[in-house]
Amino acid sequence: MNVAIIGTGYVGLTTGVCLSWLGHKVTCLDTDAGKIEMLQDGRAPIYEPFLVELMAEARPNLRFSTSYAEAIPGADVIFIAVGTPPSPQGPPDLRYLCSAAKAIGEHFDSGYAVVVNKSTVPIGSGNWVGSLVREAYENAHHRKASDNFSVASNPEFLREGTALHDTLYPDRVVIGSDTNRSLEILYTLYRPILDQDFAPPTFLPRPEDVAAVPLVSADLASAELIKYAANAFLALKISYINEIGHLAEKVGADIAQVARGMGLDARIGTRFLQAGIGWGGSCFGKDTLALVSTAAEYAVEMPIVEAARVVNKRQRDRVVEKLLSELKILKGRTIGLLGLAFKPNTDDLREAPALDIAHNLVQRGCRVKVHDPVALDRFRRENTDLDVVCCADPGDVAEDADALVLVTEWQEYREIDWAAMAGRMRSRILFDGRNVLDRTKLEQLGYRYLALGA
Ligand SMILES: NC(=O)c1ccc[n+]([C@@H]2O[C@H](COP(=O)([O-])OP(=O)(O)OC[C@H]3O[C@@H](n4cnc5c(N)ncnc54)[C@H](O)[C@@H]3O)[C@@H](O)[C@H]2O)c1
Repeated sequence: MNVAIIGTGYVGLTTGVCLSWLGHKVTCLDTDAGKIEMLQDGRAPIYEPFLVELMAEARPNLRFSTSYAEAIPGADVIFIAVGTPPSPQGPPDLRYLCSAAKAIGEHFDSGYAVVVNKSTVPIGSGNWVGSLVREAYENAHHRKASDNFSVASNPEFLREGTALHDTLYPDRVVIGSDTNRSLEILYTLYRPILDQDFAPPTFLPRPEDVAAVPLVSADLASAELIKYAANAFLALKISYINEIGHLAEKVGADIAQVARGMGLDARIGTRFLQAGIGWGGSCFGKDTLALVSTAAEYAVEMPIVEAARVVNKRQRDRVVEKLLSELKILKGRTIGLLGLAFKPNTDDLREAPALDIAHNLVQRGCRVKVHDPVALDRFRRENTDLDVVCCADPGDVAEDADALVLVTEWQEYREIDWAAMAGRMRSRILFDGRNVLDRTKLEQLGYRYLALGA
C-alpha cells in the first residue's frame, strides 16, 4: 500500500521504518528540514536501538520529504504522528495536529484515503480531524469531499528503547473507526503484523510466545480512550508501588521483596512494580493530565489518576530530601547524576526526572555533575539554562562527589566498577534511584546505600 506518515519523531519514524520494511511504500514527512536531511542521509535524529539498521534494509520502500505535495497524493493511508505536547493550561496542544490535518486536506488530490490518528489525542479528536481535512480539501479543490476520506484512530503503545520490537511484535493492534472500509484498509496494512508471517530481521528475532497478534476494533471514541486508560493504568501502577515503598521505608520493610510477593500473583503481574524515582517521558505525565482535564469537561473527577500524578512528583522531591537529611547541608556540595534520559535505551529527555532533580539541587546551591551514555548531547542542546557540569565519562561524575544518584538504570551503570568510582568520591554516598544495584556489594565497598522504598 502507499502510506504517508506525517511527523517523523519517535512514533512516526518507527512506524514508517517498520511498515516500509514489511513491504509498503512509505513517505515520511516532517516540517523539520534538519531531521529530513539526516534521514535522507541514512542517519537517525533520535537514538533507538536497531533503527538505523532496519531503516537501511527498508530503504528501497522508504523516502523522506518535507513536502506535503510529494507525500499526500496517491496515499491509501495517511498517518498523523505529530507531537501533542501538554499546553501550559494542561490539555494537549493540538496546533500541530490541526496544521497537519489541514495540509492533508489541501494536498490530497483524488481517490480514497484513510487518515489515521496515531498521535495520542483527546477523545473526540477523530471527528475534529475529519472535519478539518474535509474543509481544507473543499476549500482547495472547490468540490465536496464526500467519498474521499475516512478517519480512523490507531493509538500507539510502543515503548521508547524497544520501539521496533514493540511495533513488529505488539501485544495488540487497536483500530477505531466508524466505517468498515477504513477498518478493512487498515487490516490489510497491518496483516503481516497481525498474522506474524514475515521473516524477522536477524537483529530483532520474534519472541517465542508471539504467534498471531489480536486486532481490537472499536469505535473512534473507544479507541481514543483505550490509549489514555492504558497509560494512566501503567502510571498508577508505578505510583502505587512507590506509595507502598514510602510506607515500607517507615516500617522497615524492603519494597523489592514486597513487589515480588505481590507481582507473582497473576492478577497483579510483576511489570511496572519497580519502586524508584518514578515515571518520566513524553507520555505518562501528559496523558494522565489530558485524561483528568477531559474528564473535567464532563464534570467527572478522577481522584485515582490525580493521586498517581501527585505521588510521582513527590518521588523526585524525596530524592533531594533524602540527600539533605544525609548530608545535612546541600549548599556547596557536589552531587553527581548518573543518567539523564527518562529511561534507558533512549535519548528522550521529555519530563525526565533527572532534569527536575538537577534543577532542585542547583537551586539549593549544589554543584551538579551529569552523565548519560547517549543523551548528553541532546541535554546540552536543550538545557542551556541549567548550570551543571556535563561529563563524558561516569568516572568524572564521581570525582570529588559528595553523593552519586543513579537516575537512569542504563546497563552501563549496572556494570560499572563501583570500587574505582568510590576511590574518586569525597564521600561514598550512593543513591540508587531505581533499586537495581547490589546493596550488599556496595556496602562492602564502603558505600552508604540509599534508595526509595528500602
Ligand atoms: N514517544 C512515545 O513513546 C509515544 C508512544 C505512544 C504514543 N505517542 C504519541 O505519539 C505522538 C508523537 O509522539 P513522538 O514522541 O513521536 O513526538 P516527537 O515530538 O518525537 O515527533 C513529532 C514530530 O512531528 C513533527 N511535526 C510537527 N508538526 C508537524 C506538521 N504539521 N507536519 C509535519 N510534521 C510535523 C515534528 O517536527 C516532530 O519531528 C504524540 O501524540 C505522543 O503522545 C508517543
